[in-house]
Amino acid sequence: MSLTCEAPLPGAAFGATLRLAGTAREIVAAAERDSAALPAALAEARGLLLLPGMGAITDDPGLLIRLSRTFGPEVEDYRHTLTDLKSVHVAVPEILLVSNMPPVSKAPPKRPEPPIAADGLIPVQYPHRKGWHTDQSYRRPPPDISLFYAVTPATRDAGQTLFANGILAYEALPPALKTRVDGLEGLHAQPGSGRSREAALAGRMPRAFATHERSQRQPVVRTHPVAGERSLYLCEWGQMDWFEGPFVGMEPGPNGAGAALLDEIMAHLTERRFCYAHEWTQGDLLIWDNRCLVHAATWFDGDREGRLMWRTTVHGNPGPHYAGETKSWIPAA
Ligand SMILES: [Fe+2]
Repeated sequence: MSLTCEAPLPGAAFGATLRLAGTAREIVAAAERDSAALPAALAEARGLLLLPGMGAITDDPGLLIRLSRTFGPEVEDYRHTLTDLKSVHVAVPEILLVSNMPPVSKAPPKRPEPPIAADGLIPVQYPHRKGWHTDQSYRRPPPDISLFYAVTPATRDAGQTLFANGILAYEALPPALKTRVDGLEGLHAQPGSGRSREAALAGRMPRAFATHERSQRQPVVRTHPVAGERSLYLCEWGQMDWFEGPFVGMEPGPNGAGAALLDEIMAHLTERRFCYAHEWTQGDLLIWDNRCLVHAATWFDGDREGRLMWRTTVHGNPGPHYAGETKSWIPAA
């Protein structure tokens, strides 16, 4: 492929902007012909690629699916994975709609308080910034890659997507903390399932789960199946199980020893030096590796503007740790 790579992303220690020759249609065709090129670029960039100028996808959403397929054998069909159908693209069921507008009507996250960090920049570090997660970590095997496309982004300085790099954060972990997390497992829960830290702090007992809804164990340190590097793999308030977790074999609950450890690790993982904040422009496509990055959405004024983003999710190479597992989220026939 004919491409120019600018790395790292502005203000970050990882990621790359790929500028590819041709129209979006020509770029997708070239990516299909040279199917190793973009996955190699993603690994080289330690898990985050920006492809600007892909606006033709809006009128031809099949291009996003074709591009997604170059990153793995299975692009999720959201009709078959217990997803609320109002969040699924009517004509292209591999596209998840992320929007504050009908029919999805999902409100943006709250604004952190204060809205600007002490260094004058948008807050990134947990717990000032909350909402950090890696997509679908409440499933085993978890997905590999997400593609996120801006149909209609929020205006500048709002509605950013934040990323923190688990490989860089693991490398910089103090040795004592490295020893504590090696071999540890987190217990991940689906957002909205009643197992959040807020629910636990409020004393709201969660409902019983069917087998396919159960919280899932995940290693806190994953070895990346392509790069071979070790990475932190963890979420926080909304996507861990705060009744039985957040860690297996540690004191559970929102005020236990497990909670204290999670707060310590997440504050480290989201230090500014491991983060990137993406300001969206219409037609931007971001491609991220869920096996080594966490991300978070930010506030925008949902009363005054409508935002529409499209996401696809690619599965198929979670690593040998998950070899032979059936999908935890599919009910038994
Ligand atoms: Fe996400």
